Amino acid sequence: MPAASTFVRKLNEQVANEFAAHQQYVACAVYFDAKALPQLAGFFYRQALEERSHAMMMIRFLLDTGAEVTTPGVEAPRAGFCDVVEPVALALEQERRVSEQINELAATARDERNYPAEQFLQWFIAEQIEEVATMSDLLQVAERSRDHVAEIEGFLAREHPGGDGETDAGAPKAAGA
Ligand SMILES: [Fe+2]
Ligand SMILES: [Fe+2]
Repeated sequence: MPAASTFVRKLNEQVANEFAAHQQYVACAVYFDAKALPQLAGFFYRQALEERSHAMMMIRFLLDTGAEVTTPGVEAPRAGFCDVVEPVALALEQERRVSEQINELAATARDERNYPAEQFLQWFIAEQIEEVATMSDLLQVAERSRDHVAEIEGFLAREHPGGDGETDAGAPKAAGA
């Protein structure tokens, strides 16, 4: 097999980052679930599944372009939080970091004149804008209502009810889907 391009190496690293994000969101969901906060728990369980599907889309792209896929291990997520705001703040930080990683991938794809990769990343660039915006709204609500958790639950029930099984027609195909 020829030496992998920098893009392929970085996309494999990003697969690990997306799986790590999945694990982190499961840890956040479990924290809320144990506190009997079903809306917050449900929101983070759904976010976790999205992260898994991002990893699987990247794996699919690597497979479809004949690149090597290295199924990664991931670092343990942070569990144990001292209040309901902390997991949300951590999530926003994580989404901001992922946005930078995706932008860096796009820059690498462009440097290598890897146009299919550049096009593949467009969906992720748009997705990150949305995820950072969603998490930053939720953080504002959580900070404002940290002592009235029912209000955070109400906000999520209204704004992010879930269960609509949003299908995004423009989303890249995931491996195994
Ligand atoms: Fe992601
Ligand atoms: Fe995300």
